[in-house]
Amino acid sequence: MTSPGPDPHGSPNAAALAALESARRRTLALTDPLDEGELTAQHSPLMSPLAWDLAHIGNQEEIWLVREAAGRPAVRPDLDPLYDAFRHPRADRPALPLLPPAQARQYLAEVRAQVREILASAPDEGNPLLKDGFVFGMLAQHEQQHDETMLATHQLRQGPAVLDALAPPPAPPDAAWLPQEVLVPAGQFTMGTSTEPWALDNERPAHTVEVAAFWLDTTPVTNAAYQEFIVDGGYDDPRWWTPEGWVHRQQAELSAPLFWARDGGGWLRRRFGRTEPVPADEPVLHVCWYEADAYARWAGRRLPTEAEWEKAARHDPATGRSRRYPWGDADPRPEHANLGQRYLRPAPAGGYPDGEAPCGARQLIGDVWEWTSGDFLPHPGFTAFPYKEYSEVFFGPAHKVLRGGSFGTGAVAARGTFRNWDYPIRRQIFSGFRTARSAEAGQ
Ligand code: AVJ
Ligand code: FE
Repeated sequence: MTSPGPDPHGSPNAAALAALESARRRTLALTDPLDEGELTAQHSPLMSPLAWDLAHIGNQEEIWLVREAAGRPAVRPDLDPLYDAFRHPRADRPALPLLPPAQARQYLAEVRAQVREILASAPDEGNPLLKDGFVFGMLAQHEQQHDETMLATHQLRQGPAVLDALAPPPAPPDAAWLPQEVLVPAGQFTMGTSTEPWALDNERPAHTVEVAAFWLDTTPVTNAAYQEFIVDGGYDDPRWWTPEGWVHRQQAELSAPLFWARDGGGWLRRRFGRTEPVPADEPVLHVCWYEADAYARWAGRRLPTEAEWEKAARHDPATGRSRRYPWGDADPRPEHANLGQRYLRPAPAGGYPDGEAPCGARQLIGDVWEWTSGDFLPHPGFTAFPYKEYSEVFFGPAHKVLRGGSFGTGAVAARGTFRNWDYPIRRQIFSGFRTARSAEAGQ
């Protein structure tokens, strides 16, 4: 795996180049196997045609790196309006006069060639976009996030599989001995960051948060556990659902995670064009916030708050510091977490013992995004940088926060402080959850 962040002892430019090239390899691997018809088709009204993502990645790189950071002349200013996500909702994108895929690939290569020159020319550190290579990290994260979105488009796509059926991730050696839940004792911790060079605006600044003692599931909720909720009539009992969740559950006729189908007494799922039995021990995937919240209530528990999630993932009680990742400050290696589309599925619950947090929780980074209870809100002292349309325009009660990244997330976009968000009805994302409960005083 390539370096996800600038190593303070190495060259930030080398880390930036590695992160950008790693994202580009994924972008091409997700689009090269499809013909022009497949790349320009809309596989779901929720998603852009893949050819839109492709040129949008290049257009953002041109705007923020070539023009804004390096002050170079525009390459294709005529493309700006076409690939502006705010001007065209996803459902309208197939009707746009998009660049044909071959031209989009050429545009991406042209912009990237300039970015390599800019990187090699030791850019001016006086520009805040260039400080510690931030803009390179920002664009690598942007491309990685679109790689995950494009992977979700592959999951929604009908027809025979085009992505390789990869080997499954390693099974944990000790899953049977893991406790069901771990205790995170009461106390303050540092949430967010002011020092992580490539942290995006919504992760900043670092601030102190008091968190009461709580118990957290050691692993994400599994398919087997989720099936108990189904068998117990969880989808038919309004007691477990919020009022809005219950309305949505009825209107959308929810009865199981997205991509599941009944098979006699059991369940099958479709995964990237192949149908297979639902694996009992894997974290449940493709559930919306309302389903996660209802499951938690049925289980006599609740979703963790975002602060609880981050404290479990980062707080080191031995030093009182917050770590960059659950396992420490080292950039993710393959043994730490299931990231980067190395496997196209989560590892069984309890996987990645080397990625365990100090509290004993596993798989906080990678495998599945985890819904938290909270709305997407700014940290105290937030300032939009470099543009309001990344985070600020999404703050508010319409979006719930997801944390930790999935098997589809690149390492560069999977820090312990990284924040994702979506509508509480969304299930095409690689979303799962774990549950929590408050601990009584003195416990
Ligand atoms: C952070 C995943 C919600 O895909 O809408 C991509 C990331 N922002 N281009 C999204 C993003 C601009 C964003 N999410
Ligand atoms: Fe984007």
